[in-house]
Amino acid sequence: MRFQGKRAVVTGGASGIGRATALRLVDEGAEVLVGDIDEAGGRDLAETSNGRIRFQRTDVTQPGDIEALMAAADAAGGLDVVFNNAGAGGSRDKIDAIAPEDWDRTMALLLTSVAMGIRYAAPLIAKRGGGAIVNTSSVSALGSGYAPTAYSTAKAGVLHLTRLAAADLAKHNIRVNAVIPGFITTNIFTATLGIDGAMRDHVNGVIAQTAAKAQPVQRAGRPEDIAAAVAYLASDDASFVTGTHILVDGGMLVGTRASWDESVPGLLSALEAAAS
Ligand code: NAI
Repeated sequence: MRFQGKRAVVTGGASGIGRATALRLVDEGAEVLVGDIDEAGGRDLAETSNGRIRFQRTDVTQPGDIEALMAAADAAGGLDVVFNNAGAGGSRDKIDAIAPEDWDRTMALLLTSVAMGIRYAAPLIAKRGGGAIVNTSSVSALGSGYAPTAYSTAKAGVLHLTRLAAADLAKHNIRVNAVIPGFITTNIFTATLGIDGAMRDHVNGVIAQTAAKAQPVQRAGRPEDIAAAVAYLASDDASFVTGTHILVDGGMLVGTRASWDESVPGLLSALEAAAS
């Protein structure tokens, strides 16, 4: 019950990682206000939570919506924890083709949203004497090939913003950290591709099979895996942890695929094959 008596805001809480985190925080005693554009998903979650989760429609590309979300949490009794997590894939264009407005739209969704989440939460958390902010980055912040260019750039920005915000907000006793998910089975892939209905279930099944083989840990990553790390970072267990991140990727970034997947020939075996 690490969050007994605490109040949290979770953006993107109607689905996937945000939803699992809202439920985890509630399990540990928190009251949670979820902000999302998915009104049906948000209301559904709130209805099944015995009043522990409330929902407020929030578009994180609109700073006014974010300000209103944080203010609503404050008005309900104070704000202690914020998880800036809402997101989607953004533009899939490469850097030699992307339109300026698509670049800006992706940054607004994935980077400015986090900056404004911190901006509007910080003075309210400061009033409580301190608290914790956690931001969602991505393995794509650390290398190419995981996600589109604009998305990956924004997620790298989230990591650096996390460090700078940790420094800026230390005077308020506010810790700021990030979580870096690997390949987690959620609706983000079908949402980004615009796939809905029965086709969504089919594609999600294929994604789950692919995710089980995408990293050294031999199972698909789950939203609950990320929620556990967020709960740690947001809790007093992490009271000496700020300005950093936790990588929760099943080992995806340990090294080349050939180092852990015996079906993929490594450089040495390719040379051996060439020499034989
Ligand atoms: P999801 O699609 O299940 O959940 C994302 C939520 O954000 C949805 O409820 C959606 O309605 C909401 N959302 C989208 N645009 C919004 C907006 N403008 N304003 C408010 N809410 C909005 O996807 P998932 O995977 O749970 O994504 C959560 C975060 O995790 C995102 O920031 C994503 O980039 C990040 N992430 C996900 C990974 C994965 O493999 N699933 C890997 C690395 C990072």
